[in-house]
Amino acid sequence: MIIKTNSFVLLVGLVCLCCCAEGTKIKVKAHHVKYKNPKEKINVRVEDLLARMTLKEKLGQMAQVDRGNITAKVMKEYNIGSVLSGGESVPRTQATPRDWIDMINKFQNWSLASRLGIPMIYGIDAVHGHNNVYKATMFPHNVGLGATRDPELVKRIGAATALEVRATGIQYSFAPCVSVCRDPRWGRCYESFSEDPNIVKQMTDFVIGLQGEIPAGSPKGVPYVGGTDKVAGSAKHYVGDGGTTKGINENDTVIDWQGLLNIHMPGYPEAIAKGVATVMVSYSSWNGVKMHANHDLVTKYLKDTLKFKGIVISDWLGVDKISNPPFTNYSNSVLLSIQAGLDMIMLPYNYIDFVKFLTEHVNNKRIPMSRIDDAVRRILSVKFMMGLFENPMSSYEYIPRLGCQEHRDLGREAVRKSLVLLKNGKTPTAPLLPLPKKANRILVAGTHANNLGYQCGGWSLTWQGVSGNNHTVGTTILGAIASAVNETTEIVFSLNPDTNFVKANKFDYAVVAVGELPYAETKGDSVNLTIAEPGPSIITNVCGAVKCAVIVVSGRPVVIEPYLSSMDALVAAWLPGTEGQGVADVLYGDYGFTGKLPRTWFRRVDQLPMNFGEKNYDPLLPFGFGLTTQPVNKR
Ligand SMILES: *[C@@H]1O[C@H](CO)[C@@H](O)[C@H](O)[C@H]1NC(C)=O
Ligand SMILES: *[C@@H]1O[C@H](CO)[C@@H](O)[C@H](O)[C@H]1NC(C)=O
Ligand SMILES: *[C@@H]1O[C@H](CO)[C@@H](O)[C@H](O)[C@H]1NC(C)=O
Ligand SMILES: *[C@@H]1O[C@H](CO)[C@@H](O)[C@H](O)[C@H]1NC(C)=O
Ligand SMILES: *[C@@H]1O[C@H](CO)[C@@H](O)[C@H](O)[C@H]1NC(C)=O
Ligand SMILES: *[C@@H]1O[C@H](CO)[C@@H](O)[C@H](O)[C@H]1NC(C)=O
Ligand SMILES: *[C@@H]1O[C@H](CO)[C@@H](O)[C@H](O)[C@H]1NC(C)=O
Repeated sequence: MIIKTNSFVLLVGLVCLCCCAEGTKIKVKAHHVKYKNPKEKINVRVEDLLARMTLKEKLGQMAQVDRGNITAKVMKEYNIGSVLSGGESVPRTQATPRDWIDMINKFQNWSLASRLGIPMIYGIDAVHGHNNVYKATMFPHNVGLGATRDPELVKRIGAATALEVRATGIQYSFAPCVSVCRDPRWGRCYESFSEDPNIVKQMTDFVIGLQGEIPAGSPKGVPYVGGTDKVAGSAKHYVGDGGTTKGINENDTVIDWQGLLNIHMPGYPEAIAKGVATVMVSYSSWNGVKMHANHDLVTKYLKDTLKFKGIVISDWLGVDKISNPPFTNYSNSVLLSIQAGLDMIMLPYNYIDFVKFLTEHVNNKRIPMSRIDDAVRRILSVKFMMGLFENPMSSYEYIPRLGCQEHRDLGREAVRKSLVLLKNGKTPTAPLLPLPKKANRILVAGTHANNLGYQCGGWSLTWQGVSGNNHTVGTTILGAIASAVNETTEIVFSLNPDTNFVKANKFDYAVVAVGELPYAETKGDSVNLTIAEPGPSIITNVCGAVKCAVIVVSGRPVVIEPYLSSMDALVAAWLPGTEGQGVADVLYGDYGFTGKLPRTWFRRVDQLPMNFGEKNYDPLLPFGFGLTTQPVNKR
């Protein structure tokens, strides 16, 4: 396929919906009942409400149910505490913010119709922007943000994400992931900022952006979510999710206590100090004990030692997976998880058995009422603190913020700061980058050059990610290059050109974008960490025939050493998201390259796991590596 610039249709998105605000705040009338009185202290309101609740109502508060199971009857009868959208659980394909808000307010009305009128809280995985939502800004996945080494940027991304989440009426996001991925074979490695716990610690500033700045002098461990333009967050997955054997998802993290504390724990005290509202428990085990059943780590350490006062939430079906084999003996799994100290259970379907079994455990004194009250106190405290009782209905006022230009500009800034320049020139004195904007004819090639879905990766529109450009709005790498170069420069795009074609066209240079296909948890676990076919042959064919800059679009380091010598330049772009223009910004020298490797770039998979600071460390490129360039163009 050959596309000339002058006939090229760009997929650039400028999506500020210009709807006017239609506030629909419903003021709860001042009542003589204390819990409805916003002037009362939060703990007074909590105790007043708790004293009025039946056991069934308490257990309903502890349940988080997927939107697909929600009916008026369920919300009213069970007093369900929280509703969520799992990946792909959307009101309809390409749902608008208004569709989302109308759905959520409908659910909320049903909650308010329950005996005590306790509002539900709605949660979703907004892990790199509001990624389930059509036309939302998708920021680079966390591995790319780790490469920026810029917590202040990450804080701004948190604030932008909160606004986009609120634009759809949602009050709670399951982010940030504070995993410390120690083995890139793990399919969730891109959700981790770095293999370095210190970088992960710094990046918990995301919490401040998402939830607001915790007031000075706040009591230790008490959550803070400030205002209707902020959302509750979740530090996840507690703890050791990134340390499993061979990077196998949900597997066993075998490490001693000091190792767990030094490597996997540091993000949690930091996020708690910043007021994080919830902590999500990991599917994984620590030395053979499932985290979802780990009383020592959940109750004794997280709640008692770290003084976390927010909600401990399970992962999706995490309780069902306690048993071996999973999904057997649910009653016992419920018992173990509540005994361990979990407060809210992302069921997400089986609220009937959950309430039934938990009722039996309480009635049989296997679980004391004090444990149930601890859970419900935490849940109600967060709801009161967020102002949910005063403003239960979601407002339409933030609709214009979804995918707005300001957020897209922020995404673009994050992309350019996240790119890591791994090679520049076959000799140091002959750098290829920055590329000239003015050229006669250039080649753009590769599987990832014109694929917005690929460049967003997993957790984008769907759980495992998508392919192609029509699922949402954004700028591909090809589109970005087309916008960046001089209008007289002819761009030829070919997905997989052969060598003769490349030679015959006398290109001034080529940009090749290849990488991994989108994936998320479990499916993304890899034993070989290879670039998707035909990526390797595209590199070989193009770079053998013309000067080439290779852009690797991937959630982690991949096998690259065999092709490295053929390339003139190599850039790690991670999973940049919708704002591909940031790639062209640095490729063409409007900005310099500044990103640093957030992970060790291995030579061969048989070296894994390999992390900096270890004995016999022999990477292709070490943790922290990153060449720089100076900006050359006037802006
Ligand atoms: C919840 O939804 C799932 C998936 O649609 C369905 O299989 C299940 O039967 C529902 N459960 C209840 C309790 O309604
Ligand atoms: C919620 O209930 C209020 C009051 O009954 C009503 O005016 C409003 O239309 C309802 N909203 C939705 C989305 O159902
Ligand atoms: C870890 O993975 C191995 C191999 O798939 C499996 O046999 C084992 O049960 C897993 N362990 C845990 C704790 O999930
Ligand atoms: C479930 O687990 C409990 C505790 O280990 C055990 O006593 C019970 O027999 C199990 N029930 C079934 C049906 O396996
Ligand atoms: C996108 O395009 C593909 C293939 O051209 C098509 O199958 C799919 O339905 C389209 N999706 C949307 C959301 O338009
Ligand atoms: C493109 O190049 C031409 C010729 O050198 C120059 O006149 C023009 O200003 C350039 N366009 C841009 C947008 O820089
Ligand atoms: C790499 O492993 C994946 C499965 O994880 C497999 O589908 C693929 O074919 C393998 N690629 C190579 C080149 O071995």
